Amino acid sequence: MNSIRKVFGTAVGKKCGMALTGVFLFLFVVGHMVGNLQVFLGQYAINHYAQLLQSNTGVLWSLRICLAAVALTHIYFAITLTLENRAKREVGYEVKELVGASLASRTMFISGSVIFGFIVYHLLHFTTGTTNPEFMTFKDERGWHDVYRMVQTGFSNGWVVAAYVVGVGALGLHLSNGLRAFCQSLGWRFETYASRIDRAAVIVAVVLFVGFAIVPLALFLGGAK
Ligand code: HEM
Repeated sequence: MNSIRKVFGTAVGKKCGMALTGVFLFLFVVGHMVGNLQVFLGQYAINHYAQLLQSNTGVLWSLRICLAAVALTHIYFAITLTLENRAKREVGYEVKELVGASLASRTMFISGSVIFGFIVYHLLHFTTGTTNPEFMTFKDERGWHDVYRMVQTGFSNGWVVAAYVVGVGALGLHLSNGLRAFCQSLGWRFETYASRIDRAAVIVAVVLFVGFAIVPLALFLGGAK
């Protein structure tokens, strides 16, 4: 326990902790995006997928608990690292690191905070139905939760669509630097590959942004089945 505290107590340990928790969150995000895209296969596909997840209560709650724990650990490392860096900067270190830093890297904390706000709103919107209690009563002819109707109704409002696009935009910006930082923290970003890694990180982030944003936009514009 003490040795774990020692490793994650150092700046390098915290960066590695952020990288490892980030990978888990990244895998969730990719899985969730692929799941969401089933909306383009129609009502049965997306409702069946949601029903499969909801009916495995043990798996669902284990995943939820892991996800929450990993996300909170990621946020904890982000806050402590930011505070430590700020303290160092006040005494004149790390100035070099900021010169030439990309927009994504300078705004990591801001994009992370926007994502956090978005997730809170998103859970109240589609998971608990706090913002729209009627969503939880939607059932299809099989008696399953009608997720298709829920997202269709949810994304008929332009402000909601705008909030989602901003939320997933922040996610894309965060990931474009997060993936680069992940390779850096694990020592994989060698000089010769650095620019290729940075370009690949931007491409992955753009794919995720488009993969998420296309759902609310297509439903709003009437482009899904
Ligand atoms: C436009 C993009 C998105 C759409 C259309 C969408 C859709 C949904 C839907 C329909 C649910 C509820 C599933 C159900 O009732 O079975 C859900 C749950 C959830 N979403 Fe999203 N989502 C989007 C983006 C995101 C993003 C970017 C994140 C995280 C960064 C995220 C995290 C979550 C989480 C944590 C849950 C709760 C899972 C659970 O515990 O049941 N979503 N999403």
